[in-house]
Amino acid sequence: MSRSFTFPVRAPTRRVLIRPAGWGDIEGVARVTVDTWGQTYREILPQAYLQQMRYAASESQRSRMMHAQGVHHFVAVEPTAGEVVGFASCGPTRNGGGGVPSEIYELYVQNGFQGRGIGRRLFRAARDRLAGDGHEAMIVWVLSDNPNRGFYPRMGGWRRSKKIIRVGGAAVEEIAYTWRLDRA
Ligand SMILES: CC(C)(COP(=O)(O)OP(=O)(O)OC[C@H]1O[C@@H](n2cnc3c(N)ncnc32)[C@H](O)[C@@H]1OP(=O)(O)O)[C@@H](O)C(=O)NCCC(=O)NCCS
Repeated sequence: MSRSFTFPVRAPTRRVLIRPAGWGDIEGVARVTVDTWGQTYREILPQAYLQQMRYAASESQRSRMMHAQGVHHFVAVEPTAGEVVGFASCGPTRNGGGGVPSEIYELYVQNGFQGRGIGRRLFRAARDRLAGDGHEAMIVWVLSDNPNRGFYPRMGGWRRSKKIIRVGGAAVEEIAYTWRLDRA
């Protein structure tokens, strides 16, 4: 008697895609911004400030940012639903930057997608873009109380300085990490 074997068919796992953001991504980026702020800064920033954050307001702010000269956005897109699950933005340094010419402004990965290497890939996309633009160094400012700030030294950042900023009426401390960039 001949026996036939069937091998278990496993659905191929498609990798989250990292690509430059387009105008069609604004809604997804706004959603990730509002959701991750609510989750990450719950214990750090005033509740009232986090609760008043709205997708629509975040979308119009994002649209202005995407028009700004030299500013780049990268998105992480989940391949099955095509949903934005993370993003990074970067460009020329804001607020002086203490002599460092470029900056990663934001880097957020949606809850449920963290810890899979997406943050590292977004970080590298932003870093390589800033290097390609000819910047010799870059900076990231992160809230000192952010439990995720250990990610930046893991990416090779050097702790540089601190400052106090006001967010939603509260005074909070930020720490800067810096990197030298090799020209592409
Ligand atoms: C911080 C964040 C961007 C990291 O992205 P991620 O996709 O979860 O991280 P990755 O899986 O790419 O991790 C890459 C490396 O960093 C390390 N890492 C990740 N999060 C870390 C943390 N909170 N503390 C220390 N190391 C961390 C990982 O262990 C991994 O190390 P490895 O070299 O041993 O592999 C993401 O968790 C996030 O968006 N968190 C919420 C929002 C936030 O705090 N953003 C930063 C605001 S400035």
